[in-house]
Amino acid sequence: AISTPSTCNIQHGPGLRHRFTGPSALYLKAQGRQLSSGVLPQSSASALMDTDTCTRRPLLCTSAPKSVQAVGKPSTPGLPSPGLAQASAALSQEHGQEALQEEPGPPGCETVIDRRDKLKKLSNAEILRAIIGNLWPDTWAHRVRVLTAIFLVIFGRFLHICIPFCLKTALDTIAGRPLRPAPYGLWHVPIVANHGIVPVILMYGLTRLGYTICSEIKEFVLAPVTHDVMQKTGTKVFQHLLEMDNRVKCHREPGGTAMMMEKGYQGLHVMHSGVLFNLMPTIAELFYVGYLMSYQLGGTFATVGAAVATSYTLWTVKMTKEKSKHRKKGNAIDRKSSGKVIDSLLNYDAVKYFQNEKYEVKQYNDLQTSRSDSAYLQSKASALLKMGQASVYTTALTISLMMSAAEVARGNLSIGDVVLVNQMIFQLAKPLSSLGTAFNSIAGAVTDVEKMFSLLKVQPSIKDAPNARNLRFTGGRIDFNNVCLHDEETGQRILDNVSFTIEPGSTVAIVGPSGCGKSTLMRCLYRFAQPKTGQILIDGQDIEYTKLKSLRQCIAVVPQEPSLFNDTIWYNIHYGNMAATHEDVENAAKAAAIHDTILKMPAGYNTFVGETDGNLSTGERQRLAIARTLLKPAPILILDEATSALDTTTEAQVLQALKRVTADTTCLIVAHRLSNIKMADRILVLGPHGQVQEQGTHAHLMKLKGAYYSMWKEQEKSEGTKIAADKPFYSS
Ligand SMILES: Nc1ncnc2c1ncn2[C@@H]1O[C@H](COP(=O)(O)OP(=O)(O)OP(=O)(O)O)[C@@H](O)[C@H]1O
Ligand SMILES: [Mg+2]
Repeated sequence: AISTPSTCNIQHGPGLRHRFTGPSALYLKAQGRQLSSGVLPQSSASALMDTDTCTRRPLLCTSAPKSVQAVGKPSTPGLPSPGLAQASAALSQEHGQEALQEEPGPPGCETVIDRRDKLKKLSNAEILRAIIGNLWPDTWAHRVRVLTAIFLVIFGRFLHICIPFCLKTALDTIAGRPLRPAPYGLWHVPIVANHGIVPVILMYGLTRLGYTICSEIKEFVLAPVTHDVMQKTGTKVFQHLLEMDNRVKCHREPGGTAMMMEKGYQGLHVMHSGVLFNLMPTIAELFYVGYLMSYQLGGTFATVGAAVATSYTLWTVKMTKEKSKHRKKGNAIDRKSSGKVIDSLLNYDAVKYFQNEKYEVKQYNDLQTSRSDSAYLQSKASALLKMGQASVYTTALTISLMMSAAEVARGNLSIGDVVLVNQMIFQLAKPLSSLGTAFNSIAGAVTDVEKMFSLLKVQPSIKDAPNARNLRFTGGRIDFNNVCLHDEETGQRILDNVSFTIEPGSTVAIVGPSGCGKSTLMRCLYRFAQPKTGQILIDGQDIEYTKLKSLRQCIAVVPQEPSLFNDTIWYNIHYGNMAATHEDVENAAKAAAIHDTILKMPAGYNTFVGETDGNLSTGERQRLAIARTLLKPAPILILDEATSALDTTTEAQVLQALKRVTADTTCLIVAHRLSNIKMADRILVLGPHGQVQEQGTHAHLMKLKGAYYSMWKEQEKSEGTKIAADKPFYSS
């Protein structure tokens, strides 16, 4: 589809548009979508490009709408439109294989406008609020579990601290040394020791066992709470994703969004167990160990302990930050990488048509190189972290052993005390190292959770107005009054002062050149788009002030690009009305002239179909979409080129059945084949800039000898005498 001889726009989703200049003039729109999937090993990428279409199926694990759609329809109806991949590939041939990239723009690219709504960064206070809000459960059953787990953690840590002291006391008892008063909290140890060596050794063993049992019980007591938090948050985010506008970036990049959500859940888990049950108890244990050392061994040992703790923590924090920086970069590359695989597979045919396998593999390979660079830097930071920790710890152990040996020689400390020092340093290292791990994983988790919560911050631009009322449907009169819509970034006019009326139960057809705004007009009625000025009324009520739910209940739509779920045919049709019976589904399929075709399939209605499944023809997919829409009990029907891929006979069958089923329905039909809409009550001709050029009945428009007349004659010429002989299928 050619716009001007010297410019070429390519839009990747409504968000990303590339304007190319050059001798070749193409005006294309494409909606590129990615799927969620795991990342494939690098060697698999080229292997995948060499496989045939069937082998791709198992990899495409979630449903996704068609990846590409061309704005410009070919002038011959029925011909498939080239999509972004084809356009991109075609352009890459012309522009010396240049890539269609977001950053930097390709040569010849004047402007790159990203119209997708970006995710906003959360403030620290918002992150904290979100995290705390998710840590404390909202039911008492779960609160009791959390409190039990907290008790088990505290008691377990207490037992943990008892272990070295029990050992020291046992050794001193064996050596027959008099026992000194025990430090705060450990009074029971000398009392037991006074009853002999066996009780104190038994206490040592039981304390060790008790510590392990407390840790393990805590895990399963807490598990339902953690999973409940994850489940509730996940559902909330998913629900929110479905409420957002279609233009948000995360809708265009489902692969990345699914990964973001998955990492967010894991992050919540880490935070839940990390902050409440690791970080806080570890800090408390550190303080207690410090107190124990100074009480039992004196200020010098405590100072060594404090120096160890401080240098260990500082090093851990520094290197963890470094690691987390590379982790963030790694995550971004992971998302791009999985997106690349999915995009190439969805555009498999285009890759093959233009023999760009090597180019695709190179792009993937470049991402893998960045990924391995990032993995290298992460491993380096991790190694430095562990080496630093080990150096601090070993130095402290050596110094303290030397100090305690000197004290033993002076008679100030016993062998039991030397063991205690040794154990304490170990004891100190354990929480310090878990503090490092906790800090590390919590830092990563905060990043992941922040990303997930940032999804919740994106608000839909089209929502119920304050004081919106339910739509009261009294017949289905629709009025478009001076409706205007502009592209906010480019200022391009999409709909220009459109005014027309549809009487209840009548049929209005909308025709016009490709890209003139026909689909947008329909989207405005369904409130997928919001006019800048003007009004759309249904039965006298401005739809801007009616509740979205009540409005959308009244309108059934067969979109221009129907998408199917990766499920059975039955599931896909039944989706139109969850209350429909098996018979209803079959009747809808019959009306859409797809029932017989389905029965011929190996598994009939249980045949598995999906968006990327090549087993259905475009016409079959369109008929499935029609059947699905027929199940929705709505008094207004929108058909946006719903039968464009069907042959004339099937189209006649479908349209006649539709007319029968929708006898009292107010219909809006977008069509390119004028013969189909000849008998509509009113035909609206849109001009190239979204303005109403003409409107009236077929006979009236033919008399005018204007745009409609020219289009009719044009089609007659291209289809010979066929059009004149055509029976008008859709008539009132
Ligand atoms: N949300 C949007 N923001 C900005 N521009 C948009 C938006 N939606 C559509 N457009 C632009 O509006 C113009 C009209 O698009 P629309 O899909 O309505 O055309 P159409 O008449 O249905 O074309 P076709 O016959 O090819 O289906 C196009 O240039 C498109 O890029
Ligand atoms: Mg359209």
